[in-house]
Amino acid sequence: MSKTMKAQDISREKSAELFEKAKNYFPGGVNSPVRAFKSVYGTPLFIERGDKAHIWDADGNEFIDFCCSWGPLILGHNTPEIREAVQAQLGKGLSFGAPTALENNLADLILSNNKFIEKIRFVSSGTEAVMSAIRLARGYTKRDKIVKFEGCYHGHSDSLLVKAGSGLVTFGETSSAGVPKAFADETIVIALNDKEAIKQVFTDFKDQIAAVIIEGVPANNGLLIQDKEYIQFLREITKENGSLLIFDEVITGFRLGFEGAAKYYNIQPDILTYGKIIGGGMPVGAYGASKEIMSNISPDGAVYQAGTLSGNPVAMAAGIATLSILAQPGFYEKLEKTTLAFVEELRTFIAANNLEVKIFTIGSIFWFAFTSDNQIQRADQIDPASMVKYKIMHRELLNRGIYFGPSGYEVGFISAAHTAEDLATSLAALKESLLIAFE
Ligand SMILES: Cc1ncc(COP(=O)(O)O)c(C=O)c1O
Repeated sequence: MSKTMKAQDISREKSAELFEKAKNYFPGGVNSPVRAFKSVYGTPLFIERGDKAHIWDADGNEFIDFCCSWGPLILGHNTPEIREAVQAQLGKGLSFGAPTALENNLADLILSNNKFIEKIRFVSSGTEAVMSAIRLARGYTKRDKIVKFEGCYHGHSDSLLVKAGSGLVTFGETSSAGVPKAFADETIVIALNDKEAIKQVFTDFKDQIAAVIIEGVPANNGLLIQDKEYIQFLREITKENGSLLIFDEVITGFRLGFEGAAKYYNIQPDILTYGKIIGGGMPVGAYGASKEIMSNISPDGAVYQAGTLSGNPVAMAAGIATLSILAQPGFYEKLEKTTLAFVEELRTFIAANNLEVKIFTIGSIFWFAFTSDNQIQRADQIDPASMVKYKIMHRELLNRGIYFGPSGYEVGFISAAHTAEDLATSLAALKESLLIAFE
């Protein structure tokens, strides 16, 4: 293996100063925990602006961005069509708390291009979308328990901040202080890709399970790509038991394709949740289902759900501009092809250098797993000790002008704004950084 030079550390002087200040204002200096750079080297970078696939921090460092705001920016930063749509709306008002035509327009764009949902409700975040979907499932089935999978993240609502206890099937344990045990007792957590576990759940809690919730493709704890056959099995067993199947498509929705993971698997879930891309960088979430299931939502039905800023006109304008581009023929095919070529070049390099790292990919999502396993489908297959290599790689990448999420459990995203030149620069940096991580 050739010896690669470590790059010189970038200046983080201004970011460090801002971070010191921020610590006086916010817990841990941030408004969302993973931004605090606890799992990687150095202080968080304070970002000033973005354009296409590039971002610039407070110290003037420029990076090619593979975090893309954790997924929403499938078109990159400062996309003219989105910027212009938002600017046009700004002159008309920010919020009315009354219906606008923009909500109809975004809903129409989605529903006429997505055969998996017939009605939709807009909310303001992925967390809110999933929380509402769970309430809907409980109201619709008149059952209380839900089943989630270890390694799937569904936002921070109480019912879902639950991790597995020990044993094949157990009541969950809270994974956050402040979540009442009584809530966790209604959430059953099992391993992914384990048919026996889900069969056991339906034996032990027959007629009590309102819903099984799974990420379209689990992408919050590594990229744990499930076999279609397993997802199909979940579809069948939920149906047989009168439970709903919820696809949380906050990441995969409008990412794997306009119709997300549901189309990828060609499986009809009962409720689907969306976030991230749907608002084009503005705070939008949504959940959707058949007309029959959605008729249970207030004011039509008895399941209450509301929001002062739901369907916010500026956010709707950003969503419409974004999804109008994504709906164009060939958009996803091109992005997926670009991603695969990028990943394949790295894989060839990894094989040539005998590095113990795998790259898993689907659509325009990819993830580095520092493992010799050829397949990772369960959270417990990831060795926490392997994250040390990511930490080294992350620092080397930043020093070479490449920005990835500050945790090895997080996936990378390729946007339509990444040019061939961006990707070539990034590949060169990735190869050097990988070599250094293995020194
Ligand atoms: C699959 C999934 N569901 C729900 C959420 C929560 O979304 P938000 O952060 O917008 O509340 C996330 C966030 O990363 C997610 O990835």
